[in-house]
Amino acid sequence: MSLLEGIKTIRELPIDKKRLFVRVDFNVPMENGVITDDSRIKEALPTLQHALERGARLVLASHLGRPKPGKTEGFSLEPCGLRLAELLKVDVLVPESCIGDSAKKAVYDMREGQVVLLENLRFEAGEEANDDSFARQLRELADLYVDDAFGAVHRAHASVHRLATLFQERGCGFLLEKEITSLGKLLTRPERPFAAILGGAKVSDKITVLESLIERVNILIIGGAMANTFLAAKGIDMKGSRVEGDKLPLARTILEKAASRNVEVLLPTDVLVGKSIDDENALERAVGALQHGDMALDIGPKSLEVFAKKIAEAKTTFWNGPMGLFEKESFSKGTFGVARAMADAEGFTVVGGGDSAAAVHAAGGDIAEKMKHISTGGGASLELIEGKKLPGIEVLRT
Ligand code: 3PG
Repeated sequence: MSLLEGIKTIRELPIDKKRLFVRVDFNVPMENGVITDDSRIKEALPTLQHALERGARLVLASHLGRPKPGKTEGFSLEPCGLRLAELLKVDVLVPESCIGDSAKKAVYDMREGQVVLLENLRFEAGEEANDDSFARQLRELADLYVDDAFGAVHRAHASVHRLATLFQERGCGFLLEKEITSLGKLLTRPERPFAAILGGAKVSDKITVLESLIERVNILIIGGAMANTFLAAKGIDMKGSRVEGDKLPLARTILEKAASRNVEVLLPTDVLVGKSIDDENALERAVGALQHGDMALDIGPKSLEVFAKKIAEAKTTFWNGPMGLFEKESFSKGTFGVARAMADAEGFTVVGGGDSAAAVHAAGGDIAEKMKHISTGGGASLELIEGKKLPGIEVLRT
């Protein structure tokens, strides 16, 4: 079954001249009220432009960050409204609250050429509680429902779940459609060899995705601090490196499972070490030759060469999690090198969201545009890859 089966896309919905509720994911990174990466806003544009061209009145809603209920400074969607106005070249009104009189007034007074972006949904306790009466208040604001917030579909929250059930006409936007199609290809008959590259800090964050990928991939490449735990599980002394001592048995089980399924596992054979995360003098060390106080903070050049060769040979690759502390220049070569190898690969290359997507953008050049797909979802992309049924997707089936 196609993952999109039973889900209408915005193309099939009678949106002309209607009030359309679009759940977007404008949960963008910000520093002091300034958006540092607007990719999620840009990725929503095709859906919004399509709707505006058909005369639809747009009521947009999103969460931002994880504020406690109640209007909290620093979590307003106003900066996103300003950015959206620049990109769409329309007026974007952000009422004081996502429900109640201010929201109703903004929505009912909306004129052509205007868009309403409701204030942060998480200012209301009903959002995370998937609360029916909160969802009904949002329901009053529109005639049809479109979800384009891939990053939030793994959350059974009111705006992604309960609210959708209250609309007869509901479906997905172009971004959600693209995410489901691209990530879905990894689940159903991926071209082989299929390689997964996993990195990041902790094995514990990736247990379920590791277990599920082992069932499906041919090659598993592990980097980042996560690799330290696997290397330690093989008896290698990682000295001052971050190792999750309580996850050593789990790492051994994963390696055994991989061996029993003939999955080729590649771990770093060399690393870049520093004495602290602020050390600017990265030193190359063979794995097994770390010295007192050494912290492995990136994969080494030999490992990168081997990883890049496997990536080039693979017909399908999925990458989630950096190879090292890429935010620091001295420890960014492994992560950026993997990004380059994926961008140059001919196979179907998919980057799971979150840190890996940020790394791809930070790598610069033409790397991001050469990837076949960069997911806008962090947790959502991992859960989809794990084969889980996601509440925000299932609820759209009619
Ligand atoms: C994300 O950034 O992954 C999504 O916007 C979901 O955010 P959340 O993890 O705070 O629910």
